[in-house]
Amino acid sequence: MAKQIIPLMTRYQMGPFTLSHRVVLAPLGRQRSYDYMPQPHAILYYSQITSPGGLLISEATAISENGKAYTRASGIWTKEHVEAWKPVVSAVHDKGGIFFCQLWHPGRFSHFGVPVPSAIKTEEIPHLIADYRNAARNAIDAGFDGVEIHGAHGFLVDQFMKDSVNHRTDRYGGNLENRCRFALEVMEAVVDEIGAERVGMRLSPFSNFLDAYDSNPEALGVYMAEALNKFNIVYAHFVEARHEKGVAMDRSLLPMRKAFKNTFMVAGGYDRDEGNKAISSGKADLVAYGRFFISNPDLPKRFQLNAPLNAYDRSTFYTPDPVVGYTDYPFLEL
Ligand SMILES: Cc1cc2nc3c(=O)[nH]c(=O)nc-3n(C[C@H](O)[C@H](O)[C@H](O)COP(=O)(O)O)c2cc1C
Repeated sequence: MAKQIIPLMTRYQMGPFTLSHRVVLAPLGRQRSYDYMPQPHAILYYSQITSPGGLLISEATAISENGKAYTRASGIWTKEHVEAWKPVVSAVHDKGGIFFCQLWHPGRFSHFGVPVPSAIKTEEIPHLIADYRNAARNAIDAGFDGVEIHGAHGFLVDQFMKDSVNHRTDRYGGNLENRCRFALEVMEAVVDEIGAERVGMRLSPFSNFLDAYDSNPEALGVYMAEALNKFNIVYAHFVEARHEKGVAMDRSLLPMRKAFKNTFMVAGGYDRDEGNKAISSGKADLVAYGRFFISNPDLPKRFQLNAPLNAYDRSTFYTPDPVVGYTDYPFLEL
């Protein structure tokens, strides 16, 4: 019998990258690093998740010393970080994966007292942008195929964009154009440093994490999608509204999909059927999966075969154990 090809398992050309399927690893901070260095157990973890021609996005990775938030997160601001990431990236490449590094600054969420965007002095902004540029260069030096700017979930970039937390009165606050200025200046620097075909961006206009929400999320999302077109970045990655607490279920990413001209990725609450529908209807080019990948490192294969999925155990999402809940979920036995 001929093998049935499901939409999620069709090939896709993402800029210079040939993907053999559309099932992307969503960025997942698993809090198993030490001193902001990825550890050897991360090599096995990412390698388990890699499939030939599959796209992986790394855990949120701090861009600077003052961007530390969780004690067991990873970083990429020094040459030591570059060296620590190299074997992880190599392991993904050895299995034919394509690996983007998610660049992250937690902003007001940082333990080190980096304040809300309203309190960041205008003269500090160029330093923050330089930190993103440096981190992007380091990611490429570590072997990553590209970077994803973390512009979601109430962290620094999102804090500038959302009007609930940005109370600035300078050119980085107030109207939409001003609130998006920081994100786009970061983008400009990173694109200049490593090239647009290696840069994606994650956005969650509908989210209200860390109390960062917007009075007009649709306008924000569309504005950003259009602004990102000018940089010609390789993908935009939008998080769905429907699984955010307290947000209406009917909010749609379609206007952003229509506005953005390159690869459009969605994430948030997808299963096999919903993912297939998103691809076949043209709603998205790629679907990123988070929790299902945690418990099913061979997720694309399971989707292809319509095999049952292992249930995930939330209690070990963020625990430090290098094996339990990290690399001990069973693979399909065939
Ligand atoms: C354990 C865990 C860690 C996460 N870490 C990150 C992160 O580092 N960066 C990010 O943008 N989103 C992060 N997320 C959100 C996921 O990328 C994804 O958007 C979310 O899990 C919804 O997708 P899902 O329904 O497929 O799990 C995390 C989610 C989980 C469960």
